[in-house]
Parts: sequence; structure tokens; C-alpha cells
Amino acid sequence: MKAIILAGGKGTRLLPVTRIRPKPMAPLLGQPVICHIIALLGAYGVTEAAVAVSYMAHSIESALGDFYCGVRLRFFNETEPLGTAGAAAACRRILQDEKEVIVVSGDAVTDCRLDLALGTHRGNNADATLIVSRSDCPLEYGTVVSSPDGRITGFTEKPEWSQVASDRVNTGIYILKPSVLDLVPEGVSYDFSRDLFPRLLQNKYRLYSHLSREYWCDVGTVGALRRCNLDALAGRIRLYLPLDGVLWEGSGSKSFISSSASVDPGALVSDSVVGRDCVVEKGATVTGSVLLPGCRIMSGAVVKDSLLDSGVMAEADSVICSDSAVGSESVVHAGSLCAGERLEAKTRFSNGSSSDQSVYYDDGDFVLPSDSGRILSRLGAALESFGLPVTVSSDGSAEAAALTAGVQDQPTFISDADHPRIASFSAAVTGSIAVHLYQRDGTLRAVIFMPDGYRMGAGDRRKLVAAFNAAIPSAEQKKKSELLFIRRMYQTKLCAGIPRNHVGFHTSGDELGRCLAQCVPTADCGSGIGFAFSREGVAVDFGDGASYPPVRTLQFLFAESPQRAVYLDPPVPGLLKAGALSARELDDAARRTRQPTVLDRIRFHDPAFAAVHVLRSVSRLGLEETEKRFAVLEDIRVENRLVLPEGNGPDLAARLLAVGRAKTGGVKVFPSGIAAYRIYAESVGAESARELCDVAERKLRAGL
Ligand code: GDD
Ligand code: MG
Repeated sequence: MKAIILAGGKGTRLLPVTRIRPKPMAPLLGQPVICHIIALLGAYGVTEAAVAVSYMAHSIESALGDFYCGVRLRFFNETEPLGTAGAAAACRRILQDEKEVIVVSGDAVTDCRLDLALGTHRGNNADATLIVSRSDCPLEYGTVVSSPDGRITGFTEKPEWSQVASDRVNTGIYILKPSVLDLVPEGVSYDFSRDLFPRLLQNKYRLYSHLSREYWCDVGTVGALRRCNLDALAGRIRLYLPLDGVLWEGSGSKSFISSSASVDPGALVSDSVVGRDCVVEKGATVTGSVLLPGCRIMSGAVVKDSLLDSGVMAEADSVICSDSAVGSESVVHAGSLCAGERLEAKTRFSNGSSSDQSVYYDDGDFVLPSDSGRILSRLGAALESFGLPVTVSSDGSAEAAALTAGVQDQPTFISDADHPRIASFSAAVTGSIAVHLYQRDGTLRAVIFMPDGYRMGAGDRRKLVAAFNAAIPSAEQKKKSELLFIRRMYQTKLCAGIPRNHVGFHTSGDELGRCLAQCVPTADCGSGIGFAFSREGVAVDFGDGASYPPVRTLQFLFAESPQRAVYLDPPVPGLLKAGALSARELDDAARRTRQPTVLDRIRFHDPAFAAVHVLRSVSRLGLEETEKRFAVLEDIRVENRLVLPEGNGPDLAARLLAVGRAKTGGVKVFPSGIAAYRIYAESVGAESARELCDVAERKLRAGL
């Protein structure tokens, strides 16, 4: 049996991945997709295959050689792409007197039962059999309509929704009688789906479909390539190639780590593929992501639901998330947030401003690509080039301040103008350039007035855009403007930790609660698990009367991650330290042995991050099991009381303090102001803590 593999397309939808490799070389668990295809063909008895190459032909030829997985390979290189059918016809020479040939797209990942398809083809005495698969969203494919016996009656390539008449899509895998390729005209680009199949249909050829119920995916886009890798991890596809690496399984997640990759034991990798020679440092997090060879994820960086091409560096504490695709050898700078971005190869990305982002002019105003502090300070620096003072007003105070952070040598004013006309007035009375920032349709816009009170004219606008593109704010300016958007950075880091399959939750209405709830559109619907934030931490409510105080949340988190160093933000109950932490490095010791990252430190002592960790545990263990594990922990309670005894001096407090320190889980008394004392009592059980507190209070009042 012989096969033809179509591997010559440009793969433009798969940019930036196809910038440095042709689409069939895109990796699935570390091996090019085309290698998986040949392994499958070999497993079904194909002995010889023609590979039709064009774009970056050499890279495919040198990766495969003349013989791969028991299949002899012949390469046909088109100088000009001939289209899919044209390319297959050019390979016709190898077929000679074959009865049938299998044609496979070089971007198909499948474990299709080719033997069954062949059976269908032969049973129908078909001229061509299209292997089809079911799809909920067939718009990216060719849809196939067949009569109940499988004979194809209609075919629509890349239909609109209104044209969708079937959920069966062409997988780009065909079994053909070689003679149908004789219909392909020479010297023109000719496509199976658009040209040959419609022609066969018209001329009443025997065209059949075979429904494959096995896995199939066209890795034509970055999202599809990432999902396909995750599907392979989850075992949804049978692979025929030996893999060069290990499958890590742990707490409900699986990851593939190439044998030459280095993942620090202090890094968190889940549901991800870590390619050859990648380095994932201590304290880094990689989830739901695919790292192609040679990436480096530095300490504290988070990579979530994204694909990083070869040699990408995610610097310390950067966050790459929300289906981002980062081109090869790009650098995402320390602390930057890269959410849902498509970055070309070799981009230097720092906080919302990749080098190709620019302001543009629309409907009389400037549109800013994002409202990050850095973009605003760049605009400020650009405005400075006009040599005039700058007055800024805005809907939100952070935006105005960020803009002025970019202006170094000119006087700047933040005004309270809340309408563009008032801003225009301010330009005229102060002799400055006045900028009014406002949001429209979810994007930040700037209307700019010159000292004559008129909007900036066309010449100045061009000058401003050029100055903006050239403006490089200093490190100090960047820091200053970043700080103004720190809440957003906090929230993005928080969101990056929430698992994809999280349970419903609701939060208390304070600021941390809002930050957490805003990460997820369905949060705060009142159902599911409840988080209440307070000074002490986060209390967890599982409903049905099962609710636990903040101390218990800490106990739970410590118990669930015994291998981690723990960083605590005092005050922490002594009982908790003594009991739950006895077996591990305590905060100080850990600090001495290594430099903790930001994420390390906030993992536990920040209540919102603690809540995210509870959500992660729930996804891993299930709600019931999590609640059970909360329930079995010791009921450590803290009673905290302010007492105003009459006529007592600080000596008494010192004595009580000494008494309190002598016992574990006892009482501590601290002077509070001149005449008051604060008592902390902790014990197992609320009643016992209250009693300890009562005793201390009585002693205090009695002056003992
Ligand atoms: N040699 C060669 N020459 N190969 C080509 C050429 C060419 O001119 N054009 C495309 N190819 C290769 C691509 O490299 C790819 O492996 C395969 O042919 C299919 O091309 P795509 O560009 O990926 O097509 P598509 O995904 O948009 O649509 C086709 O495949 C879908 C399923 O994956 C169609 O056949 C659809 O009907 C089908 O549903
Ligand atoms: Mg395709």
C-alpha cells in the first residue's frame, strides 16, 4: 500500500509557529506531526510514501530521511505550490499499478482506523473515499453531505453557518483510485476540495464518505496545535511513535517532559508539554501550555494556556496567559503581563507594549492599544517632544498619573476637567497641550488639544505617532507608571492561577473579593463555594453549614503541599506554627537557603491567592473530598480582645506576656496605647480559646 502526504502549504494561520518551520514540522509531544502521520501509515502496512513538499522543503526532508518508521519516502518538491490535488498528481509517478492510494494532509493528527476506511472504500467500489469526522463547528473545514449508504451528494468548502448542512467534515484524508488523479490539469494550481471533488461529483464518479470515530484534529492554528498537544497528554489519541521524554502524572494532571528538559522540583508544571532543552526554574508555574524546545521559564513566571515557540524566555514574575502565542526567541520581560497576545518571532515584550504596538488615530481621537502604564508613559514622553507643558485629565486617576510619569522635563498638571470641552479650555488658559483620556467601547482614547484650544492638526498628529514609536521611557518612568496599575497586575496573577475547570464560587464584597470575582464571569452568582476575606485571611464556606475560619484555610493549604517551603506574614497562631509546620522549613530558614520569589511569598499569606489554591484543590480532589480534608483538621481558634482595665501600668503587661509565652497555644497580652491591652488567646476549640481569654482578662482587671 502506498500513500501521498501533502506537506507543502505555507501554514499562514499557524504563524508565528510556521515562521521558522513548515506546518507538518509543528511538534506534538516533542515530535513533528508528520512523523506521527508516517508512524500511523506504517502501522497500517503502508510501505512507501510520496511527500509533496514546497514551503521550507529542506527542513522536512532532512528530518525524515529516506526511510522512516518502516516507510520508504520519496520527496516531490514543487517550486510553485500546485494546490493539494496538483501536488498529489505530481506524485502519481510512484504509484504505477497500485489499486489504491491513501492521501493524507500533513497537518492531520489522527489515530484513524485506516483498515476500516479501506474496507468501506473497497466495499463500495469507490473512486474516492473521504474520511470524515464529526465537528460542532465545521466552518474551518469542508462539510460533506452523504446519503445513508455513504455516497457523497454535496460538498461545501469552508461554509458560512447558513450553508452548513452537515456536521461531518472532511479530514483531508482520502483513499483514491489513482486514476482520478489523471483528471487534474497540469501546470495550474488545483485543489481537492475546491476543484477535484466537485468535478468528480458533477461527473457522477463514485464518491463515498467513511465516518471515523477516532481522534482527528487539523493543527492549522496555534490554538488547535496547543489543544491537540493537551489531548494527546490526556490520552485521547493513540500515538504510534515512541516518545523522547516522560509522562508525569500527579494530582489529576498529566505533563510531558522531554528527556533533555530541566524542571526544578520547586516549579509547578501541570497539563503541559515541556519540549527539548527547556528550563523551568524553581517557583515558576506552567499549566495548560506547550513549550517548544529551548524555552526558559524563570523563577516566579506563570505560563498558562499558552504556546511558546522555540527559545522563548519568560523572565522572572512575568505572566503569559489566555491563549497567547509567543514567537520564537522572544523575550517577555520581568513582571510583564502578556494575555491573549500573538507575538511575532524575536519580539521583546514588556508590559502591554510589544514593539509593534502603536497608537493610531480614529474618529478625531488617538486610540491606545492598551491602557497599561507603560503605553501611557510612552505617550507622555511623545507629547513632551512638542516642548510645551502638558495638562492631563481623565476618567480614571491612574491613567492621568501614568501619562504624566512619562513627561520628564516639561511642567505637567493633572486637572479635574471631566469633559473634552473643559480640557480644551484648560489648554487655552494654561498655554499647554491638554490631553483628555476616556474609555469608549472598552478601549482607552485620548483627545488632544493644542494651546490655541483646537484639536491637534494632521501634521502634529503624524509627529506625535512618530514620537510615540520612538519613545523609550526610562526604567524609572516605567516603574512609576507600572505602580499605578498594580491592581491589574495583582489580578492578572490571581486569574492565572484559577484552574480551567474550577467550581462555582462567590466572594465577600471587599476589594480582594472583587479582584477574585472579576477573574471569572460566572463568579458571584451566589452558588458554590464561598470565600469571605478579612484581616485574618480567608474563611471558606462549603454551604450546608460547613464553614471554616481563616486559620483552617492555612492549615489546609499547608497540609496539602507538604513539600513546599512556607512563608508567613505574621501574626500567625503559634499552634499552627508548632503543629502544622513542625516537619518543614519555617519561613526564616527558607529565606536563608534561597531567594523566595514574589509568588512564593504570596502563595499562602495573601488570602485571595489562598482562595485560588483552595479552588485548585477542589478541581483536583472534588468538592466533597476537599471539605472532608478541611473538616478533619484541628479546630484552632484565636480570640482577640481589647481590654481597658483601670489603673494598670505596662509592667503588668510585660508579666502577662512572659506567662503567655511559656505555654504553647496560650495567651499573649500586648499593651495597646497608654491604658489598654490586647489579648490574643489561641487554643483548640472556640470555647477553650474564649476561656483562656476570659482568664487573662480577669487577671488583667484584677491587677495580678
Ligand atoms: N505540496 C503541497 N502543495 N501541499 C499543500 C499545498 C500545495 O500547494 N497546499 C496545501 N498543502 C498541504 C498543507 O501543507 C496541508 O498539510 C494540507 O495540504 C491541507 O492544506 P490546508 O491549507 O491545511 O487546508 P485546510 O486545512 O484549510 O483545508 C483542507 O483540510 C481540511 C481538514 O484539515 C480541506 O481539504 C478541507 O476540506 C478539510 O476539511
Ligand atoms: Mg489544514
